[in-house]
Amino acid sequence: MIGYAFCGSFCTHKKSVEELKKLKAKGYEILPIMSNNVFETDTRFGTAEELIKTVEEITENKVVHTIVDAEPLGPKISLDALIVSPCTGNSLAKIARGITDTSVTMATKAHLRSDRPTVLALCSNDALSANLQNISILLERKNVFFVPMKQDDPNGKPHSLVCDFSLLDKTLEGAMKGKQIQPLFI
Ligand SMILES: Cc1cc2nc3c(=O)[nH]c(=O)nc-3n(C[C@H](O)[C@H](O)[C@H](O)COP(=O)(O)O)c2cc1C
Repeated sequence: MIGYAFCGSFCTHKKSVEELKKLKAKGYEILPIMSNNVFETDTRFGTAEELIKTVEEITENKVVHTIVDAEPLGPKISLDALIVSPCTGNSLAKIARGITDTSVTMATKAHLRSDRPTVLALCSNDALSANLQNISILLERKNVFFVPMKQDDPNGKPHSLVCDFSLLDKTLEGAMKGKQIQPLFI
């Protein structure tokens, strides 16, 4: 079974859901996880209720959304891999610095304890500013892999990086063999 965690990059949830469907169609058994923010927040991109319903229908599993329910995802419930898609700048920074105060950061910490792969699908407006150091910290961390990313709007949003969600399954396949797919920056 793999874990599939959503963070609050609300504008990319639609793309992430498409990749979730593809992974399910490929035969992966999937445990969905949502950050507390995602589980509770309605935005102009959709309601939390709609997203939860869609994700639970696709995965045929209930969404894990509390620290208490995420804590066993490593020592007790062993996932083959954990995907954080989308991964916000907020969650990336916390994972890099060892802060564990949401369901997603708890799941990641618990999962990394068991030395299995974690895939981060980063989408953040501060990836090339406040979060650049955190990307470099995680690039050097064992068992952490990134979905290839690019500057989505270099002139309008010079500090933003957005991953290419269509490369998620290839990144996962590489990660499960211990390899970061390349090129990392596209
Ligand atoms: C409509 C909307 C869109 C957002 N998009 C992004 C985004 O693409 N990337 C990002 O890093 N944060 C984004 N944020 C900010 C995060 O939701 C915020 O940092 C939140 O604390 C993230 O919590 P989480 O990482 O636990 O999900 C967005 C917020 C809102 C309200």
